[in-house]
Amino acid sequence: MDAVHHAGPPLTALRRKDLLGIADLTAEEINLILDTAEAMKEVGKRTIKKVPTLRGRTVVNLFFEPSTRTRTSFEIAEKRLSADTLNVAIGTSSVVKGETLVDTAMNIEAMAPSMIVLRHSSSGACHLLSRICRAAIINAGDGMHEHPTQALLDAFTIRERKGRLAGLKVAIFGDLLHSRVLRSNILLLTKLGADVWVCGPATLIPPGMDRVGVHVTTSVEQAVRDADVIMMLRIQLERMQGGFFPSLREYFTTFGMTEARVSKAKPDVIIMHPGPMNRGVEIASEVADGPFSVILDQVANGVAVRMAVLYLLAGGADHEAAA
Ligand code: CP
Repeated sequence: MDAVHHAGPPLTALRRKDLLGIADLTAEEINLILDTAEAMKEVGKRTIKKVPTLRGRTVVNLFFEPSTRTRTSFEIAEKRLSADTLNVAIGTSSVVKGETLVDTAMNIEAMAPSMIVLRHSSSGACHLLSRICRAAIINAGDGMHEHPTQALLDAFTIRERKGRLAGLKVAIFGDLLHSRVLRSNILLLTKLGADVWVCGPATLIPPGMDRVGVHVTTSVEQAVRDADVIMMLRIQLERMQGGFFPSLREYFTTFGMTEARVSKAKPDVIIMHPGPMNRGVEIASEVADGPFSVILDQVANGVAVRMAVLYLLAGGADHEAAA
């Protein structure tokens, strides 16, 4: 486990109202979440997968963008912690009549939920709600800004497989420009001492990427060489207006993760992808479904990590001691 340098007593809760991004978290808080997720994973192995921790608390899942993994795993996590949970169906809500995000949130807030899990296409939407809501706001992905629980479950999965994060070569490939997963992962992995490489076409490398403590390259061969972890990012066609590369076929030829490219990494490399995957674009099916893939482990770990976040924001051991 990564070293934590801490002067006072060990942390037992996230002493903050919201989880808005990895940028706000210390290495100690990240490790607390990862350690707590290990205990939460054990709950998921029981016959009765339920603990009373969040009994009496209401959690609202407010997803303005599509989601399979994040929304489902938050709901499972909330139910395993015995919270009263509900999903606002945006397509049949008053959002379609033009109600704003703020008005929608204030009306939900009036019904006194303990927490709101928010996914929104605007970067900063979670920060906005954090300022106006008493409920804890958990960022489930805001625009091209952050997706903190994805980075946490990625780190949990790496730690589970490798025993540590510090010193590992983590090579991240794909649509670097539009990816909130990348931003949260860079923040987290560099805080915990990983050696992070990012690789993609020059048109998809955001300005300033060379100033955030990572190696930047357009050479897949250079990035993949001796990597401990290969993390693929989805090509986000829905966020692209123009031609960032000539064709999907050419993208796959130049940047797609194939078995031949994986063979240049460490022999015990793990292959990650946050999903949803574009098979045959950023990743070959043989790699996605192959022996090095931990992609479905990431999904499974998402439940434990989100349970940990909900529990720790609710007060963690402090809350349990007071109950
Ligand atoms: N990784 C991820 O955020 O997937 P979903 O969009 O399906 O939630």
